[in-house]
Amino acid sequence: MSNSVTISKKLKNFNKIINVSGDKSLSIRWVLFASLAKGISKAKNLLISEDVLAAIKAIRTLGIKVKIFKNECRIYGKGIEGYKYKKNLSINAENSGTLGRILLGLLINSPFPIKLKGDKSLSKRDFRRVSEPLNKFGAKFKLKNNKNLPLTILGSSNLRPINYFESRGSAQCKTSVIFGGMRTNGTTIIKAKRSRNHTELLCKYLNLPINIKKKKNFDEIKINKVKLIKPLNYTIPSDISSSAFFIVLTALAKNSKITLKNVNINSSRTGIITILKKMGVKINYKNKRIYKGEKIADINVKSVKSIKSINCPTKLNSKAIDEFLVIFLAAAKAKGISYFKNLAELNQKESPRLKWGKYILNKIGIKTIVTNNSIKIFGNPNLKINKKIIIKNYLKDHRVFMTSVIAALTFGGEWVIHDKNSIKTSFPNFLKIIDNLKK
Ligand code: S3P
Repeated sequence: MSNSVTISKKLKNFNKIINVSGDKSLSIRWVLFASLAKGISKAKNLLISEDVLAAIKAIRTLGIKVKIFKNECRIYGKGIEGYKYKKNLSINAENSGTLGRILLGLLINSPFPIKLKGDKSLSKRDFRRVSEPLNKFGAKFKLKNNKNLPLTILGSSNLRPINYFESRGSAQCKTSVIFGGMRTNGTTIIKAKRSRNHTELLCKYLNLPINIKKKKNFDEIKINKVKLIKPLNYTIPSDISSSAFFIVLTALAKNSKITLKNVNINSSRTGIITILKKMGVKINYKNKRIYKGEKIADINVKSVKSIKSINCPTKLNSKAIDEFLVIFLAAAKAKGISYFKNLAELNQKESPRLKWGKYILNKIGIKTIVTNNSIKIFGNPNLKINKKIIIKNYLKDHRVFMTSVIAALTFGGEWVIHDKNSIKTSFPNFLKIIDNLKK
């Protein structure tokens, strides 16, 4: 079967209610917390994608039993010290930076070296950003080129708490160190530039010894050794990062409407909503509620006649970090020049996304000026494409694929987009939902 999609028609107007899959950050975190709990944890609406299955394989390698049923996943945790470390363990984080980086925090007590590897894309990404702080706890690392996978971690039985300043706004680095602190006697203190806070909310919900103070420019997080985690039953809400593709598709379409049900609208993730509202898109929330510390709502979006350009406030960067590629499409259709800056972290993702954002925009005839941390996008409200466009060789970054599909359905042209299997990492149902919008 071909691993590319061909799109040669714009999407006609639609009015739909859809359910996108479970949140990836919460699904991976649930797997890891449940693997440390004492007893059986159950999850509904867990995202069954390659990244989450890699997390499940990882904890199975560490001796934890997992059963996946049609509507439920069960993890049979053996307590905080329940991992069965053996000689020559090897874990494959595949495409998932989140899994690779945050799992390491839990392995800092391993008495044997454990090998961590990943796919081609993950092997290009920076792991020194977590090995350095975890090394201060007492764990030892050997990394390829001193910064990449494959790496070997050797834990210590003599861990010491650390003080750590997380300056990138990376939730993966913050979580990795919180996990390290959970394994260590004494108080680990983290000063973290704000980023998604699912780990902290889960720690609080589970009554773990965590204390968080909001300071002006960062959060101060104190975490102590965790003795017991109770089983965690959880219904994973829908992923705003997956919803983003449908939010932008609808905003840029003609006379269309969409409702996305039960989406996680944690304010550390809703940068896309703030940005699109500033660009003139009509978005509102219905049925707002709190579930185990997380905010959830149905999101209604309507298409608009014109999109405004934006000089994007940098304080929104970490809140929209996974959504910029698709936000750039809104900027492509805007009247005027949009500017996104201080975005060096975007080049640290599954592919260098400033580069691939520029690539897609230039292919559709939009002028850009790109530096190593910013992009200016010269919008064209009358953009229409009449040529053939081929998208390939982009390190199989799922978000490059899905953004290209949204561009094809919005602007027209004859598209061949390679590596459709990339969506299996985060959003296997993506193309099925697109098909449903055509009906
Ligand atoms: C994630 C954090 C973000 C994000 C990633 C998921 C998480 O990465 O891009 O897709 O679940 O913690 P960084 O923490 O590196 O910004």
